[in-house]
Amino acid sequence: MKEAIIYLRNKGIRGIYKGIIKQIFFKIDPEKVHDNTLRLGKILGSNPITRLATRACFSYSNKILEQKILSIKFKNPIGLSAGFDKDGYLIDIIPSTGFGFEEVGSVTGERCDGNPKPRLWRLKKSKALVVYYGLKSEGCEAVAKRLKEKFNIKKCKIPIGISVAKTNSKLTASTEAGIKDYVKAYKAFAEIGDYTTINLSCPNAYGGQPFHNAKNLNLLLSKIRKIPSKKPIFLKIAPDLSEKQLDDIIKIAEKYKINGFVCTNLTKDRENLNIKNKILDENLPENGGISGKVVEELANKNISYIYKKTKGKFIIIGVGGVFSAEDAYKKIKLGASLIQLITGMVFEGPQTISEINQDLTKLLKRDGYKDISEAIGVENR
Ligand SMILES: Cc1cc2nc3c(=O)[nH]c(=O)nc-3n(C[C@H](O)[C@H](O)[C@H](O)COP(=O)(O)O)c2cc1C
Repeated sequence: MKEAIIYLRNKGIRGIYKGIIKQIFFKIDPEKVHDNTLRLGKILGSNPITRLATRACFSYSNKILEQKILSIKFKNPIGLSAGFDKDGYLIDIIPSTGFGFEEVGSVTGERCDGNPKPRLWRLKKSKALVVYYGLKSEGCEAVAKRLKEKFNIKKCKIPIGISVAKTNSKLTASTEAGIKDYVKAYKAFAEIGDYTTINLSCPNAYGGQPFHNAKNLNLLLSKIRKIPSKKPIFLKIAPDLSEKQLDDIIKIAEKYKINGFVCTNLTKDRENLNIKNKILDENLPENGGISGKVVEELANKNISYIYKKTKGKFIIIGVGGVFSAEDAYKKIKLGASLIQLITGMVFEGPQTISEINQDLTKLLKRDGYKDISEAIGVENR
């Protein structure tokens, strides 16, 4: 009965979102919509009544979805990916929206306004976004101060990951300065939140992605590992890496006892066959990384490669193009223990998280699993 009510509730919200709200949103500049959504989220999170109302609209729970990973309890595997809540303003409301966890950030060592606008576009037919924010961040000191105050009042109801990145600036372009900046951000969050992701793969920052390089990554992790922190560490990688690059990164991750990978960030590849929107193709901005359905296959390939190569030794957070329970289930069966998304929610609506969790429950039961962890990596074992 409860399942049927949630199903009907989600159908209703989907209808309203796709029929009315999305029609309006998709006529407005995407960054404005994003900023206003953050404002609304802040208001909804600020008092118990709006939090309760949000929960009534979006919650879903089922025991089959619960997991304990690296001693962290996840009520469901669907998380908000880094980049939506860059400065951690949504941590009061996110637990009421149906998400099982959130990754705040990416937060950089120094404050940075990001790249000049416009820096966010929609590829409607390709079901993707083009992102050129360039690590807009209030900087690690301001964000850490605010989150620390919050965590002192109450621990967040869901696990919070903090994504740290190198400030987008000429000043951090050298390896030495880049490491110093990463270390500053990492240190600021050493005791805040439940896990840290080191974002190696922003496609839009000055100087590219120099820490995918084995020598640089080795140096970076040797410094990071000297900082005391009980939190697990993940590395977020690009979807456009060669097998040789992945092998090098895996080796270094093993050496420094990294706990897992976030697969993957945005793709830079303009030749990607999944870019379907011919008209927008012509206007496809030269800069920016691409999300959603354009990156999905690449992310899945990386999940498979790492899971198979390391026999499931690393925890994998799968991200890229998850719009439905089938998409999430695919990543789980390839080897992802947890899933993140942004673009699916933008295109399908905020009830997508609850829909994915409810449908994922059905898929797991259909296939005879007693809990979600039994399904992780089944296609690659
Ligand atoms: C608007 C936007 C901003 C993003 N900013 C970040 C970021 O700061 N750090 C990061 O690691 N990934 C960032 N990403 C990448 C996402 O976390 C995710 O890896 C990617 O969008 C693929 O997932 P999706 O298809 O579900 O959107 C951003 C993505 C979007 C759409």
